[in-house]
Amino acid sequence: MTQYTSTNDEKESALQREYMTRAARYVERLGRELGRRPACCVVTFGCQMNARDSEKLEGILTGIGYEAVEREEDADFVIYNTCTVRDNANQRVYGRLGYLHSLKDRKPHMKIALCGCMMQEEAVVEKIRKSYRFVDLIFGTHNLFKFAELLVAMFENRETITDIWQETDQIVEELPVSRKYPYKSGVNIMFGCDNFCSYCIVPYVRGRERSRDPREILREIERLVDDGVVEVMLLGQNVNSYGRNLDRPMSFAQLLKEVEQIDGLKRIRFMTSHPKDLSDELIEVMSRSDKICRHLHLPLQAGSDRILQAMNRRYTKAQYLALTEKLRAAMPDLAITTDLIVGFPGETPEDVDETIDVVRRVRFDNAFTFLYSRRTGTPAASMENQVPAEVMREGFDRLLKVVQDTAKERAALLQGRVEEALVEEVNEQDGTLLTGRLSNNMLVHFPGDGSMVGRLADVSLDECHGFYYTGHMIRKADAPLGKTVDGNG
Ligand code: SAH
Ligand code: SF4
Ligand code: F3S
Repeated sequence: MTQYTSTNDEKESALQREYMTRAARYVERLGRELGRRPACCVVTFGCQMNARDSEKLEGILTGIGYEAVEREEDADFVIYNTCTVRDNANQRVYGRLGYLHSLKDRKPHMKIALCGCMMQEEAVVEKIRKSYRFVDLIFGTHNLFKFAELLVAMFENRETITDIWQETDQIVEELPVSRKYPYKSGVNIMFGCDNFCSYCIVPYVRGRERSRDPREILREIERLVDDGVVEVMLLGQNVNSYGRNLDRPMSFAQLLKEVEQIDGLKRIRFMTSHPKDLSDELIEVMSRSDKICRHLHLPLQAGSDRILQAMNRRYTKAQYLALTEKLRAAMPDLAITTDLIVGFPGETPEDVDETIDVVRRVRFDNAFTFLYSRRTGTPAASMENQVPAEVMREGFDRLLKVVQDTAKERAALLQGRVEEALVEEVNEQDGTLLTGRLSNNMLVHFPGDGSMVGRLADVSLDECHGFYYTGHMIRKADAPLGKTVDGNG
């Protein structure tokens, strides 16, 4: 199997910036025809990595003159950045495409584009080209950096532009990004996945694992901090295997140590961790750090050894339990969250009991529980003993109940304590309240004014309401940060 390392392709980014200048002329012309600034709408499905990709898409679109809007109805260009990890993600895209068609019927100049993981599946692209012919542009995950060039092709052609790559070794930096939040940002540290869990389509649609050069990562974070960011989320499908294939290999824990040194950066999060690769070195770096948040997302998937093996997860129930015990011993405050799948081929109610047993023992702070979804091309899809829907449902409901009970128990533990929160927004329902995120990833609502957004505060967690707290501010924990806060108070 080919292993790729990171190469920052400066020539390519210069070329794409030229295409942006060309695309801007078409947007300008459209603006003259419409008598207003054309609007774009980027809709994201799926995970944090897709969310980060969408910020890149929007960066290009606003860079060539579009105004970003929230609703498809108000847009002249709509792009869906799709996910295919479970079938319901695909169904949502098809459903919304029908609606887009009706919008385009009323607004013929409207352009529609599709990209992301779903487009890496041949059958999907065939179906769209046949039954959704009003789509103007289709591309995949490997050539997202060509977006400006593809837009030019779209403006210069009447028929659908389709460009899907099977793989890439290019990592193109230095293109514009439009960040959703001024004070926090995702940062890709690696792309793709080599784990091939037998149920999962991600390795097929995101390609082989490639780590970004640590210098590029650090430079990006430094720039973000200069621009007002206080919290970063390091992103990868399996961050614990970061750096193995670099020309000069380094571990994820080593990368974290370097990120920690960045002045002005207050909080570091990362996701996702694969249990098989979580090292003692990482536990040590985390437990010594006052910047790395007390939250670890550690997908378990299943508790039965037989199912774990069939899933190709490469750890046992006992190993997972030992790992979480070690983590909690090193960091008693650590919130551990997880992903669980019910209904993998061959899974019996007794196997689900094993998953429930792990949930009871670890007492996860939160867990995303999924019904197994058969993904074409994965090994599990052709396994014979697929579980009937009603059996899946029964196991799912049983598991969910335990997950909710243990999560509630865990949440109540912090009640009455004073914890640091990063103020994320003014509460939507009640403008006198702020919403802050705790180090452990839970939310707290407390009275305060909008000038606190993007800043840290010590908050007393007065009452736990299951999945969030209400409280009051004890003290503003920091001086104004970065350029994006106004420095009030
Ligand atoms: N790289 C991450 C997860 C990426 S996908 C990891 O390995 O932990 C996010 C979650 O979707 C997975 O953890 C898994 O629980 C779920 N998932 C993936 N494929 C699925 C499938 N075919 N059916 C149901 N859930 C699935
Ligand atoms: Fe999918 Fe497994 Fe890779 Fe996660 S580690 S993306 S579940 S193959
Ligand atoms: Fe979905 Fe692709 Fe992420 S399949 S979960 S958007 S990597």
